[in-house]
Amino acid sequence: MSKIRRVGVLTGGGDCPGLNAVIRAVTKSLILENNIEVMGIEDGFQGLIENRIRPLSFDDVSGILQIGGTILGTSNKANPVNQPVLVNGKLEYHDLSKQTIANFKKRKMDALVCIGGDGTMAISKELIDRGIPIVGVPKTIDNDIYGTDYTFGHDTAVTIAAEALDRIHTTAQSHHRVMLVETMGRYAGWLTLRAGLASGADLILLPELDYDLDVICDFISKRGKKGRRFSIIAVSEGAKEQGGERVVRRIVEDSPEKIRLGGIAIKLGNDIEDRTGLVTRATVLGHLQRGGSPTPFDRVLATRFGVRAADLAAAGQFNDMVALQGDSIITVPIAEVGGKTRIIPVDEPLLDVAEAVGSSLGVVR
Ligand code: F6P
Repeated sequence: MSKIRRVGVLTGGGDCPGLNAVIRAVTKSLILENNIEVMGIEDGFQGLIENRIRPLSFDDVSGILQIGGTILGTSNKANPVNQPVLVNGKLEYHDLSKQTIANFKKRKMDALVCIGGDGTMAISKELIDRGIPIVGVPKTIDNDIYGTDYTFGHDTAVTIAAEALDRIHTTAQSHHRVMLVETMGRYAGWLTLRAGLASGADLILLPELDYDLDVICDFISKRGKKGRRFSIIAVSEGAKEQGGERVVRRIVEDSPEKIRLGGIAIKLGNDIEDRTGLVTRATVLGHLQRGGSPTPFDRVLATRFGVRAADLAAAGQFNDMVALQGDSIITVPIAEVGGKTRIIPVDEPLLDVAEAVGSSLGVVR
């Protein structure tokens, strides 16, 4: 008989399509298969710090599979061991781990399922070290978490970005313009690369490969000489010119990840226009990529992750994150995940595939 009676579940970091699918899978599976109670922690670690925790019933999680966001709420700032607190208008960082652990015990939870990105896994590691048993579930549209081939949410974001690139085509073609679409992804280009490939973008510019403006302008001019009077550019928010800087949209002082990227499409569009005289237009997709209903792929992945996380918790196997390797769900120690970023490696086959079909990566490789 399992000694686990009650498990808490939280979603941390930025929201992402498929979070509700995981919450549903964890909750239903723990209740149905193991007769274990589930507690929903509100707003990620913030709710654990403040004891905002409510029971989750089977009915509470019915009908949420297709819904984006998270019914629990989330926070990308809360950190029980290093919590940003404003004291007399000054930002200070406090260790609130004692009160957090006290809340965990007060609510009689035996373990947590923490759904989040590398930041959530890094905080989970700190709580594991302080005695809280945790199972991790990786989420992010960026697909940049160490140890897993795929995170849920990524496929949905790729689908949205690819559709945006498809739609941009008609205006680019009709007006003979260079149209840029900026995608999210921070320092990893997976989202841009897959969306660019899926939509046949002419240029795909990634954070991992600093672009050369000469290469880009030559490529566009050559297309023009062949009668192709428009070009579509998929550009990552983290892309930058060789020898240049990334474009920072804002600094969020009280966030563990302070830098928010954004705006490279506008800068690059202006540079191309100055250099070639062609008309350019830039579209920054932003949070559209994180919104709405998850794709069936993400729903299935999120459900598989959630059921495995529930199985691990019920069996008392903690301190691992569930992950996808090939088509298998595996586990990776949470201690190995936090603070790392899985960027596109130089030998990634998809880079060769893009070039093989005539897309430029904006650089001579
Ligand atoms: O990590 C997910 C992500 O959407 C990134 O792609 C993006 O850079 C960042 O979060 C945006 O953060 P925020 O929602 O705080 O603006």
